[in-house]
Amino acid sequence: MKTCILGTGSWGSAYARHLAHKWDDVVMWGVDDTAVAHINSTGTNPDYLPDFRMPPNVGATLDLKVALQGSEAVFVVVPSQAVRGVMAKVASTPGLPKGVPVVNLAKGLEIDTLKRMSEVMAEELKQNGHENPVAVLLGPSHAEEVALEMPTALVLAGDPAFDWEEWQRLITGPYFRVYTNDDVLGVEISSGFKNVIAVAVGICDGLGMGDNTRGTVLTRGMAELARITVAMGGRQETCFGLAGIGDMITTAISRHSRNRNFGEAVALGREDPSKILEGSKQVVEGFYMAQAALKLGEKFGIELPIVKAVHEVLFEEKPPHKAIRDLMARVPRSEADAER
Ligand SMILES: NC(=O)c1ccc[n+]([C@@H]2O[C@H](COP(=O)([O-])OP(=O)(O)OC[C@H]3O[C@@H](n4cnc5c(N)ncnc54)[C@H](O)[C@@H]3O)[C@@H](O)[C@H]2O)c1
Repeated sequence: MKTCILGTGSWGSAYARHLAHKWDDVVMWGVDDTAVAHINSTGTNPDYLPDFRMPPNVGATLDLKVALQGSEAVFVVVPSQAVRGVMAKVASTPGLPKGVPVVNLAKGLEIDTLKRMSEVMAEELKQNGHENPVAVLLGPSHAEEVALEMPTALVLAGDPAFDWEEWQRLITGPYFRVYTNDDVLGVEISSGFKNVIAVAVGICDGLGMGDNTRGTVLTRGMAELARITVAMGGRQETCFGLAGIGDMITTAISRHSRNRNFGEAVALGREDPSKILEGSKQVVEGFYMAQAALKLGEKFGIELPIVKAVHEVLFEEKPPHKAIRDLMARVPRSEADAER
């Protein structure tokens, strides 16, 4: 059985190592010729997943047609803002086998349209006459820990007309447990949103605040996530699952988390937020999702105070300590108030 992974970054590489235990042939496709050359010549990807070697049945190519041909599943593991462009290439390149699932692993929304990744993928496929089922595979899954084969659990959520239970088995492994969930919207919104809360926790960490603050930001962040998810038609319980609270806790407390680390660097204030990102080869999704989440709140008429505060710090030059002070000075209200 052959599968292909689009993207040769950290998560694509760790996921390729995992799939290689179950699948005969794992082909990674990318645009980064250095990463592709490293994977093929030394079985490593030093810029994205240092210290790990790929099994011999993992290869890489710059040729999308070669990657797609004969694949029984396609996994998309590029930053969310790149998913449409990559899917447009997939949809117009001869080689995508008919009916095979296309599964997104990126966490975010398209900023301009506020569309979820499954919607973006389905649109691009449909425009080119493809009828492949679409899904997402999301949850708390730091690449470094998956590469170390530490127990990890994710959620597979997709097209209701397709049998995802068979796919659940095909991608499950001894240290990689996969749950299904029919609330695709809830899973996708949760996965993107948690990165904004992780940035908020990082900002508080950078300001030297403690565990009380962390617990407060996470809990009130969950309240914001549940509000927007329900307003959009998703289920509240999905927010309390792996893709929601599971990933939010993991991302907000982890030393591996780029989003938390980014927030901390912003609060330490050595550079402008966008300058900090320029120095990183790897994507920080929370930077983009803060913009999308703010727009979502406006669109659905939902108050999202933490999202707004993160946005003010990242894009409106508000000093982080002032953003925290303003959050704390909001009108007192009942915790049971579901509106704000
Ligand atoms: N790193 C993790 O632990 C992890 C875990 C779960 C989910 N994710 C999500 O997976 C997605 C990818 O994360 P990552 O950590 O692998 O990112 P990364 O920055 O390490 O790698 C991104 C990859 O995408 C490629 N890429 C970027 N723009 C492209 C384009 N226009 N066309 C083709 N390829 C392009 C880059 O060359 C690189 O190979 C993100 O949405 C992230 O939130 C990451």
